[in-house]
Amino acid sequence: MHSFFSIFSHIYRESSIFTKIFTALENPKKYTVTAALPYANGPLHLGHLAGAYLPADIYVRYLRLNKREVAFVCGSDEHGAAITIRAKKEGILPQEIVDRYHEINKKAFQEIGIDFSIYDRTSSEEHHKMAQEFFLDLNKKGTFTKETTEQYFDEENNQFLADRYITGECPKCQNPSAYGDQCEKCGSDLSPLDLINPVSAISGNKPVLKETSHWFLPMERHEEWLTSWIQEGTIHGKKLHHPKEWKNQVTGQVMSWINSGLKPRAMTRDLDWGVKVPLENAEGKVLYVWLDAPIGYISATKKWAEKEGENWEDYWKINKETGEAETKLVHFIGKDNIVFHAIIFPILLKQHGEYVLPDNVPANEFLNLEGDKLSTSRNWAVWLHEYLEEFPDKADELRYVLTSILPENKDSEFTWKDYQDRVNNELVAIFGNFVNRVVVLTNKYYEGSVPVAGEVLESDKQIIEEVKETAKKIGESIEAYRFREALSGAMNIARIGNKYLQDSEPWKLIKTDPERVKTIMKIALQISANLAIAFEPFMPKKSAVLKQILALPEAITWSDLGSFSLLQESQTIHKPELLFTKIEDKMVEEQLAKLASSKANNIPAEPIKEEVSFEDFTKLDIRIGTILEAEKVKKTKKLLHLKVDIGSEIRTIVSGIAESYLPEEVVGKQVSVLVNLAPRAIKGIESQGMILMAENAEGKLSFVHPSEDYIKSGNSVS
Ligand code: 2FM
Ligand code: ZN
Repeated sequence: MHSFFSIFSHIYRESSIFTKIFTALENPKKYTVTAALPYANGPLHLGHLAGAYLPADIYVRYLRLNKREVAFVCGSDEHGAAITIRAKKEGILPQEIVDRYHEINKKAFQEIGIDFSIYDRTSSEEHHKMAQEFFLDLNKKGTFTKETTEQYFDEENNQFLADRYITGECPKCQNPSAYGDQCEKCGSDLSPLDLINPVSAISGNKPVLKETSHWFLPMERHEEWLTSWIQEGTIHGKKLHHPKEWKNQVTGQVMSWINSGLKPRAMTRDLDWGVKVPLENAEGKVLYVWLDAPIGYISATKKWAEKEGENWEDYWKINKETGEAETKLVHFIGKDNIVFHAIIFPILLKQHGEYVLPDNVPANEFLNLEGDKLSTSRNWAVWLHEYLEEFPDKADELRYVLTSILPENKDSEFTWKDYQDRVNNELVAIFGNFVNRVVVLTNKYYEGSVPVAGEVLESDKQIIEEVKETAKKIGESIEAYRFREALSGAMNIARIGNKYLQDSEPWKLIKTDPERVKTIMKIALQISANLAIAFEPFMPKKSAVLKQILALPEAITWSDLGSFSLLQESQTIHKPELLFTKIEDKMVEEQLAKLASSKANNIPAEPIKEEVSFEDFTKLDIRIGTILEAEKVKKTKKLLHLKVDIGSEIRTIVSGIAESYLPEEVVGKQVSVLVNLAPRAIKGIESQGMILMAENAEGKLSFVHPSEDYIKSGNSVS
């Protein structure tokens, strides 16, 4: 067996990027891998998985297969406005919300096979303590400035309105529902004072300005070192990482922030849910969620280390004696978290003085779903816990499909048809088919015993070489955070195997040259064993099943990949077992129908129209009417010609409701009518009013009518 280092030192010598890049962390002793702490205010969907958790898990599984020491930390982000606003809406305590979603998300992660060292939570006492100590330490070092400023305040709720507590029009793109910290439409970073026509997200009221004091991080003081750290990977001339290893979109976004001038950012908030500011005169103040959450990575590591008998500081701090980082810190996140992980948290870590800085922040772009943006509020999502409930044995199929389409450098798209195609045409037809043929034939010809090979021909040697070459590149791709490429390398090994069987046709040759078949089958078996290793980071459950079928030893590791002596002659393998089954059209249809119904039931949050005065509203004269007659307006699709009794008189109204109602259905119905709308001619008929209609997301209309029968024609609506 090769040692890991001999294979990889060989790769590094050959690969032009890798020869240049390994300096400070040539052989990191440890790895600290974090995946963004998801807010515990809702369930996870496929976008979360593809954004951060799946790539992080593949990377970590690969490292562990290489016998690296890894702390893989994550947990619930349990503070912040996302949680308190949701709790307020549901009329329950924030703790109830976070308890609910912490459990749901933890279970979903386990079932999809995201193998965290620990899945912690930021509402824990230990986390509060660590976040407070971190804050105090930085405060002592003069990292913050205390400033009194005017901030928006909701008088009805007696609350200051920061971040998502306030909405208004984005000054850059005019999106009418931008948040106080960010416009989700144009991605601009905002402060509440930037918003045009701000309103409180709690009451809808217009806020007032009121003075309050906070601790600010003057980020502009850090522009210089951040620039050299991002652009050169150096701080004061010391090489820390290799910027060429970073994704262009990450470096680009960070530089664009720096170039447009960093500003002071408040690190505390006036709220009662969060980590209390541990200082006097800080009553009612908590740490900004984006200060406390990343410290959650550290407190989670500490909790894990204590349980495992490790020293957490080895995973976060610079070695005091050598002054070097001995762990490689990697943050897996989605692109909306870049500024926090590549600017703010590094500033905090550096200010502290003892901590390592991230070696990389391989942020992914976004995943779309069936042609539309994934959205929790519009219920446009494939929810992970629902998928796992419906398809408990298809976790790895989902991992495979998502890895094939990871939004590594640009947004990508999940569709159920593509899911079906990839499972059927790749997993079933290539990987599953190859392994199945090998296992079936070995059982049939040799009762499951690995045959003794005869002469290895030149053509066999070529296949062996091809597999070795392909295998070698998979690790290179994973180390460079190119997981799609790595997965396609693993699938190429199955393709090579399939073609080898197809070309050599052992099922025909068995009659004429059984000795040659032994060699072919032995090579095919070794390829199958290689597949079990190559796919382990991507599809751990299937890989375990394959290892079991082939009776491979538990101890095999990544360094065995590319070996052709994984199975010994005369060793026995087990009976065949199907690794994958076909996805039927019915499943795709059902999933599409489920999405369609969620679209129909969830009207997108339409921005509220411009404010009108009460006087303007009272100008509208709306009354209850009863439809007496109805007929289609000729040569139109949408229009009905109606006679409506409004109590005092009978009006003629032309209404665009013919696609939702037949004329005979509407006669006798009570409706709401705007009776003082100026008359207008529609298709030559004078329409003397307007019927008020409600509309669903698919454009289907419904009358707005009274719910009690004591309301009669002519009664007013106000
Ligand atoms: O965007 C989010 O979902 C945040 N909860 C991520 C936090 S990552 C880290 F800082 F904890
Ligand atoms: Zn905007």
